[in-house]
Amino acid sequence: MTVRELVENSFDAAEMAGTAPDVYVRLVNESSSDVSDPKPYRLTVLDNGPGVPPQHVPSAFGKVFYGSKYVLRQSRGMFGLGGTMAILYGQITTNRPVVITTSADGKKKHSFQMMIDISENRPTVLKRTSSEANGTTGTRVDLTLEGDYLRSSQKIGEYFKQTALVASYANITFVDPLGQVTFYERATSAMPPSPKETLPHPHGIDVEAFKRIVKLTEEHDMRSFMVTHFHRVGDKIAGRFLEFAGVSPRLPPKRLNNFQIVAIVDALQRFPDFLQPDAAVLSPVGEEILLAGMNKELQPEFSTVVSRPPASYSGFPFLVEVGVAYGGKALQPGVKLFRFANRIPLLYDESSDVSFEVLNGVDWRRYHVSPEAPVGVITHVCSTRIPYKTVGKEYIADRPEIEREIRNAVREAMRQLGIFLSRKGSMEAVQKKLNIYGKYLPLIARFSTDLAGKKKEPEYQRLMGPSGSAPAEEGGEETEEAPEEAPAQGPKEIEIEQKKIDEYGRS
Ligand SMILES: Nc1ncnc2c1ncn2[C@@H]1O[C@H](COP(=O)(O)OP(=O)(O)OP(=O)(O)O)[C@@H](O)[C@H]1O
Ligand SMILES: [Mg+2]
Repeated sequence: MTVRELVENSFDAAEMAGTAPDVYVRLVNESSSDVSDPKPYRLTVLDNGPGVPPQHVPSAFGKVFYGSKYVLRQSRGMFGLGGTMAILYGQITTNRPVVITTSADGKKKHSFQMMIDISENRPTVLKRTSSEANGTTGTRVDLTLEGDYLRSSQKIGEYFKQTALVASYANITFVDPLGQVTFYERATSAMPPSPKETLPHPHGIDVEAFKRIVKLTEEHDMRSFMVTHFHRVGDKIAGRFLEFAGVSPRLPPKRLNNFQIVAIVDALQRFPDFLQPDAAVLSPVGEEILLAGMNKELQPEFSTVVSRPPASYSGFPFLVEVGVAYGGKALQPGVKLFRFANRIPLLYDESSDVSFEVLNGVDWRRYHVSPEAPVGVITHVCSTRIPYKTVGKEYIADRPEIEREIRNAVREAMRQLGIFLSRKGSMEAVQKKLNIYGKYLPLIARFSTDLAGKKKEPEYQRLMGPSGSAPAEEGGEETEEAPEEAPAQGPKEIEIEQKKIDEYGRS
């Protein structure tokens, strides 16, 4: 979780700045190697993102619920919690300070050694230095935490692999405690569009969020309040809604009491005429990037990506992308599900996830997929608000709207795989037949020519394929088509077969 939270922040930062991420992660054993796990490890995460302005560093990394992502925008981070909790975990297990080094302007690099004052939810800066940044921006986090690498190495490896699968536009380097380096190289220069900030949709607002907006607003009447603070609410719709809710359009929002706020929020949910949220704010991975990732990490024989049109649930726009890969070197027999939400790999609690439910309902035989077929299914849900079932970002709730979109995308992608497999199957069957004909027809032809006492063999080549070409041997490479009159076999092979025929004749 610690690795993931810090890496996620690095990806978010670089992507929001429109920079192709370059993220370096290193775990170093802090004690002698014969000490057994769990033990202290030093974790370094370094990125080429936009950095953090020095005045924000202590709060961003030393204060819970401090984040730049509270606006409604599609990003991995949501709560202003992850990075700080990771740092806090390091602190409570090893009591060592964290060091944040960052440059936001490329000129000066600032380094903060700090600890978190837990009782006050406040950072304490122990040491601060600065130096030349040499034109590069970015952030580096160094912390010490107690961990059990032996147990977590598999999940960490999986996390990087899956991140590389979906973020094929990034370079990721991971150095493990044994000093082994894994490099996931960028496979495309395409980048997903930067997610745009959006106002909350009236269907997606709760009482607390509404109160927060009331507190911040500078609007003097309810009509302009509605237009200014809500997504796709124009003057006309605002007027109709206020009438529906029984609120005067001229009422100053700051005068609303608790009772009225609850009633308005309730009416916001029920009012049927709000426009659908605009999906232009979403940033899907995109076919090119996802295919590049699948081909790089899974090296399949067949791959396809299906993107669904945007939809919405409870006022939040979302979009589903599904990739299906088949065969190749990396996939094991059976169907493997890779789940992503806003490009985060979800590694735990697979069986509680909506995508798992959808795959459970798929009739694989319909798509010519046998139980041992090596198939990888990638599902990606992107939204300004992912409906995680729990606080951890582990699995997505089975909202009917989302479930339907995933099901439709999976069906379409499977249909394409089905076409590929049935073509492959019938081609294999034809090839098998041709291989058998190829072996026996020349013998039969020669034998029957002899029996009939004739010299010229019948033109049996035509039976072996539309152009009369000889098929490739089973297991061999497909050869170029042979010209019309060419013999089906070379002279030496015919000689051997002739011997067999003679023997057969004798016996
Ligand atoms: N590598 C980084 N580069 C730039 N800014 C960063 C970086 N890491 C953290 N930040 C800033 O620190 C803030 C707090 O990060 P934190 O991980 O605690 O919360 P979050 O990412 O907003 O939400 P979540 O709790 O879902 O992770 C971020 O919102 C961001 O502004
Ligand atoms: Mg975060």
